[in-house]
Amino acid sequence: MGILEGKKILVTGVLTDASIAFHIARLAQEQGAEVILTGFGRGLSLTTRIAARLPHPCPVIELDVTNEEHLQKLAPQIKEHLGQIDGIVHAIAFAPETALGGNFLNTEWQDVATAVQVSAFSLKSLTVACKSVFGPSVSVVGLDFDGQQAFPIYDWMGVAKAALEATMRYLAEKYRDWETDRKSTRLNSSHLKLSRMPSSA
Ligand SMILES: NC(=O)c1ccc[n+]([C@@H]2O[C@H](COP(=O)([O-])OP(=O)(O)OC[C@H]3O[C@@H](n4cnc5c(N)ncnc54)[C@H](O)[C@@H]3O)[C@@H](O)[C@H]2O)c1
Repeated sequence: MGILEGKKILVTGVLTDASIAFHIARLAQEQGAEVILTGFGRGLSLTTRIAARLPHPCPVIELDVTNEEHLQKLAPQIKEHLGQIDGIVHAIAFAPETALGGNFLNTEWQDVATAVQVSAFSLKSLTVACKSVFGPSVSVVGLDFDGQQAFPIYDWMGVAKAALEATMRYLAEKYRDWETDRKSTRLNSSHLKLSRMPSSA
């Protein structure tokens, strides 16, 4: 019996079978979890194809974390497929090219804003959007990168990752109020070492 037997988990950020989230979803299923994925924009059809390569093909919900309508429809769609969830994996990040690669001093605010909204603010958007389908004990996990140091080409994505860490801490603090709903919630960010970093994440 796997350690996630009977758990239901929403996994975001699966784009290809090289996506970290793909392997999280695969392992979660191997450990007995029921998984649902989200897919974004033009990548949605790719995510749908990749979902079929998991040990147990699973549904894919369309979600652009900057789209209020998608966020509002998320919980009802989760409810339809899984009822409620026990975990969320936030594996979403994006920065425009101008915000990476050594251009730190010249990046326009709009591009910085995009990086921070998609990569950090989205943790709040996603977590709040799912609150109504939380099971009695929920874990939210974000994928982090060392926010304590400045790396030469990570630039505004590095700033967005530091914001993701801070967002995690603030959400944990806000969750104290949510605990009064008799739900226990854990928030963790997982520091990853650089593996194969797509240019935009
Ligand atoms: N690859 C690494 O070495 C590394 C290191 C540290 C942290 N991370 C983090 O791990 C996570 C996954 O990255 P990855 O390396 O698997 O890359 P990836 O490109 O496969 O994953 C990024 C995902 O973000 C999604 N996304 C982008 N904009 C979105 C939006 N507006 N709405 C919804 N989804 C959106 C993409 O569709 C994609 O699925 C990211 O948070 C990344 O910063 C990766």
